[in-house]
Amino acid sequence: MVKVGVIGCGTIGNAAHLPAYTKNPRAELAYVCDIIPERAQKAAGEYGGKAVTDYREVLADPQVSAVSVCTPNNTHSTITVAALDAGKNVLCEKPAARCYADALVMQEAQRRSAKTLNIGVVNRFNTAVNVIKKLIDTGELGNIYHVYVSFRAHRSIPGLGGAFTTKEIAGGGVLIDWGVHYLDLAMYCLGDPEPKTVSSQAYSVLGRPMEDYSFLGMWAGPPDYSGTYDVEDFVTGLIRTGGPTISLNGAWAQNIGVSDTYIDFLGDKAGVRLVYGQNFKLYTAKGGALFESTPEFAASDMFYDEIDSFLGCVENGGKTPANIDYAIRTSRIMQAIYDSSDAKKEVIL
Ligand SMILES: NC(=O)c1ccc[n+]([C@@H]2O[C@H](COP(=O)([O-])OP(=O)(O)OC[C@H]3O[C@@H](n4cnc5c(N)ncnc54)[C@H](O)[C@@H]3O)[C@@H](O)[C@H]2O)c1
Repeated sequence: MVKVGVIGCGTIGNAAHLPAYTKNPRAELAYVCDIIPERAQKAAGEYGGKAVTDYREVLADPQVSAVSVCTPNNTHSTITVAALDAGKNVLCEKPAARCYADALVMQEAQRRSAKTLNIGVVNRFNTAVNVIKKLIDTGELGNIYHVYVSFRAHRSIPGLGGAFTTKEIAGGGVLIDWGVHYLDLAMYCLGDPEPKTVSSQAYSVLGRPMEDYSFLGMWAGPPDYSGTYDVEDFVTGLIRTGGPTISLNGAWAQNIGVSDTYIDFLGDKAGVRLVYGQNFKLYTAKGGALFESTPEFAASDMFYDEIDSFLGCVENGGKTPANIDYAIRTSRIMQAIYDSSDAKKEVIL
């Protein structure tokens, strides 16, 4: 049994990590940790483990061999590096860190410790995504020349004025929060090609001034008009890689009343549109006719699989697709998107 600690008992801790460890016969939940004592106690009551408020108590226990880091983005690097240096294996939630420099520090700590560092790029364990990857790898789509990524919503800024909209804490807005999943998924399906150049622009428009922001509902808590809004709510960009080009448009908010959340893989033999978190359609042309098909498959629980594969690394070593060495390319691209936007010119990597 792998003794595990979950650090951060908020939304993703409760929705994914705690239930997945509890269900997994290979894991024993030894600690649940949150700086808010009631959250740690509530998690201990529901899932078991000792409730603590200081993650260093988890790291000091030699029986613990693995931790999940489910805390806000600005704490990922510090807690992950401390955990690796204490000899623990780490599954850190996405994004790896607030910025690429911090993600590199995490990768260095992984190398120093020779323990596993996986990032919560959970779509790499999504069944539909893996079917698409197999279609690409076996040449069913032919030569993929472009991938278009859309993560646009009408009104979906989370917790206006809070942690999500404060650059110091989150590192950015819609790109680092949503775009990380879309970009990482595209990179995974393409075999993580080397990024070459990035040209982009990020805009912080509809969320500021905060009191003028019109919305019907808000996730991640009600607005705090005394708080901070200094992140982007719209981003656009073009990435050249060693393989296909990738273009993206992302919006936490836009004055267009639709949500367009999909990834298009354009190949010369066939194309695929994956609706994020759902199924995909395959489009092709044969014998002078156009075909469109929807696949059927049994989907597994990607969070369970993400954590099960992490436990496999803890027990046997090895690299899964969530390893920092792959996920860090997504961090590098996101950093280049922000850098290109700030510099208002193309960034060469
Ligand atoms: N994989 C996904 O699909 C997914 C979904 C949601 C969130 N996330 C990521 O998970 C992380 C957490 O997001 P969330 O929505 O659960 O946030 P949250 O605010 O709901 O939960 C974070 C928890 O961490 C606790 N915390 C903060 N600092 C701490 C510290 N030093 N030690 C112990 N606990 C601490 C907070 O008190 C809070 O309970 C973020 O990085 C986010 O990007 C990933």
